[in-house]
Amino acid sequence: MKIKSVVIKEPGQLVIDEHEVAQPLAGEVRVKVQLAGICGSDVHIYRGHNPFAKYPRVIGHEFFGVIDAVGEGVSADKLGKRVSVDPVISCGHCYPCQIGRPNVCKELTVLGVHRDGGFSESTCVPAGNAHEIADHITDEMAVMIEPFTIAANICEQLKPTSLDTALVYGAGPMGLTTIQALKNVYQVKQVIVADRIPERLAMAKACGADVLIDNTHQPLKDTLSAQGILPTLIIDAACHPSILDEATRLISPAGRIGIMGFSSEPCTITQQAITSKELTIFSSRLNSNKFPLVISWLNNQKINPDALITHKFSINEVETALAVFEKDQKNCCKVLLEISK
Ligand code: NAI
Ligand code: MN
Ligand code: ZN
Repeated sequence: MKIKSVVIKEPGQLVIDEHEVAQPLAGEVRVKVQLAGICGSDVHIYRGHNPFAKYPRVIGHEFFGVIDAVGEGVSADKLGKRVSVDPVISCGHCYPCQIGRPNVCKELTVLGVHRDGGFSESTCVPAGNAHEIADHITDEMAVMIEPFTIAANICEQLKPTSLDTALVYGAGPMGLTTIQALKNVYQVKQVIVADRIPERLAMAKACGADVLIDNTHQPLKDTLSAQGILPTLIIDAACHPSILDEATRLISPAGRIGIMGFSSEPCTITQQAITSKELTIFSSRLNSNKFPLVISWLNNQKINPDALITHKFSINEVETALAVFEKDQKNCCKVLLEISK
C-alpha cells in the first residue's frame, strides 16, 4: 500500500512524497493519521531554523489517528483504537529520565524533529506514546492535546494557585493554552495578557483572560500600575529575549517566572532584580508525560481547544496551510491538516 507524507528534503524544499507504508517494529504501533496540527517548529524546520532537525524529515509532532497495525510484543487489542501521540521519546535511564523529566532526556528524540513525524498518512511510534482517546472526545480536541501539554508542563513547574495574579506574554497558541489552564484548571485569581495584535487579544478573552493589554505603544509597567495590578506569576509565551528582564521588574516579591523560549540571543538581567525579591525562574520544554493529565482536563471539560482552531486544510494544501500560518497572525491561530478520513 502506498501512502503520502509531507517531507522537508532540505531547508526550503517541501515535497509530498509517495512511498510504501512501513510495518511497525517490536514495541511499536502504526497510526493511520487523521488530523495534525501545524506549529511554529514545523515552519522552523521547513525554513532551516531549527538547530535540532536533520533532513530529509517528515514534519509534524501534533497528530491524532487510529491504530491499524501493531508490532511484536504489542497487544492486538490496540487495533482500531483512536489515539493522540506524545512526540517525546526518551531513553528511560539517564538522570533526567530517572527523576521523572524524560522531556529533557540526554537522548531525547522528538517525533517530527529528530525522527519522522505525523504529517503522513501513516506513521509508526512506540506503543507507549499512543494515548487512547475516549469516543466522546472529538478528533479536533484530540489533535490539540500536545499544545495543551506545553501549558500543563509549565504550570506543573509554577504551581499556580487561587492566590495568584498571572501575567501572560503572548496570545499565540502557547499563550492561549496557558491562559485556559490558568483560569479553568488552576483557577488563579486573575489573568492579564499582553500582546501586540488586537485580534490575538480577542482570542485571549475568549480563552478566559480577565485583562487585555496591547503593549505596542504603552509600556506594560505603567498600564499595570495604573490599574493597581501586581503579578505574582509571569509566563513568557512570546519569548523575546528582552522579556525576562522586564518580568523581573514587573513581578511581586516572592513571584515565579516561567520561560519557554529558545532564542540564542543573550538577555541581560541583574542578580539584584532576582535576589532582592527572592524570585524563582522556571523553564519548560515540551512535556514530561503530560498526555494523561491533559486527557483528564478534556474528559472533565476544563479546556476548550476549539477556541484556538481557525483553519483546516487537506494534506495536499500543506504549502498554503504553512503560508497562512506564517503570514496571517491576525486571523490565524491553530491550523489543522486533514490527513485522511
Ligand atoms: P506565536 O508566534 O504564534 O505567538 C507569539 C505571540 O507573542 C504573538 O501573538 C505575538 O504578537 C506576541 N508577542 C511577541 N512579542 C511580544 C511582546 N514583546 N509582548 C507581548 N506580546 C508579544 O507563537 P506560539 O506558537 O504561541 O509560541 C510562542 C513561543 O513559545 C515561541 O517562541 C515558541 O518557540 C515557544 N514554544 C516553546 C515550547 C516549549 O516547549 N518550551 C513549545 C512550543 C512553543
Ligand atoms: Mn507544537
Ligand atoms: Zn533519558
